[in-house]
Amino acid sequence: MNNQAPYYHIVGKEVDVFEHANKNNLPILLKGPTGTGKSRFIEYMAFQLNKKLITISCHEETSSTDLIGRYIIKGAETIWLDGPLTKAVKEGAFIYLDEIAEARPDVIVAIHSLTDHRRELYIDKLGETVKAHEDFMLLASFNPGYQRGFKELKPSTRQRFVALSFNYPDAKIETEIIVNESGIDNSDAKKLVNIGTKIRNLTELGLTETVSTRLLVDAAKLIHSGLPKRLSVDVAVVEPLTDDLEVIAALKDLCHLMI
Ligand SMILES: Nc1ncnc2c1ncn2[C@@H]1O[C@H](COP(=O)(O)OP(=O)(O)O)[C@@H](O)[C@H]1O
Ligand SMILES: [Mg+2]
Repeated sequence: MNNQAPYYHIVGKEVDVFEHANKNNLPILLKGPTGTGKSRFIEYMAFQLNKKLITISCHEETSSTDLIGRYIIKGAETIWLDGPLTKAVKEGAFIYLDEIAEARPDVIVAIHSLTDHRRELYIDKLGETVKAHEDFMLLASFNPGYQRGFKELKPSTRQRFVALSFNYPDAKIETEIIVNESGIDNSDAKKLVNIGTKIRNLTELGLTETVSTRLLVDAAKLIHSGLPKRLSVDVAVVEPLTDDLEVIAALKDLCHLMI
C-alpha cells in the first residue's frame, strides 16, 4: 500500500458522503466527465480509511469472468483463480469499477447481489456464494451520456448506488489544484484556469468533451518543466480536444491572447 497521502482538494461534501455511505455499507456511483478528480478522490478516501483499493478500468470486453475469476490449466491440473472482485469481497478491499457502463451486461448482473442488503457474490462457476467482508465497498464511475459514444446506465442499476456528481471545480479551487500538481506559479495557473473556463463556455463548438482539470494540469506540468507557455497550451489543451483544423486554429488564437 502506498504510504504517502494522495493530494486531493476537497470540493464539496464528498468526503462526508463517502464516510457515511461507507459506514452504512452503501455502494457509491461517481458521475461526471473525465478528468474531474473521480479517481483521485477514491485514492484519497482509500488512503484516509486505510483500505486497499483495487481499480478496474472497464471496457467493452470486460466480463463478469474477468472480475469474478476463472479456472486455469496448470500442468496436469486445473486450478481456480479468484478475480479482482472476488478478492476484494473476501479481503474487505475497496473495488472501483471505472467507467462501469462500458462493461458487458453480465458485469452489472454479477454485482447486483453485492449492491443490496445481501452483500454477497455468487460465483456461478463454483456454485458458491461468498459473503462480503465487512470492510468491502463497491465504487463505480460513470460518464453521463450527454456525449456521443458513451453508453448509458440503466435506471435499475443506477438506483442501487448513492451517487456523487463531479464537475470542473470553481476557479479558485482549480487554480490551487494546478499549482499543487505542477509547481507553476499562481498567476500562470490562473491564466490556465481562465483558458479552461473560456473554452468550456464555447458550447457552440460541439466538442464531445471539453477542457478538464487534467488537461490544465498537464499544460502546467509542461510549462513548469520549461516548454514555452503557448506551445504547452497548444499540445496539452487544444490538440487533445479536437481534430477539426479550423477549430484548432481558432482555439489556439484564443489561447495565445490569454497566456
Ligand atoms: N479535486 C482535485 N484534487 C486534486 N487533483 C485533482 C482534483 N480534480 C482533478 N485533479 C487533477 O486532475 C487529474 C485528473 O483527475 P482524475 O481523478 O484522474 O479524473 P477522473 O478520474 O475524473 O477522470 C488528476 O491527476 C489531478 O491532477
Ligand atoms: Mg478516472
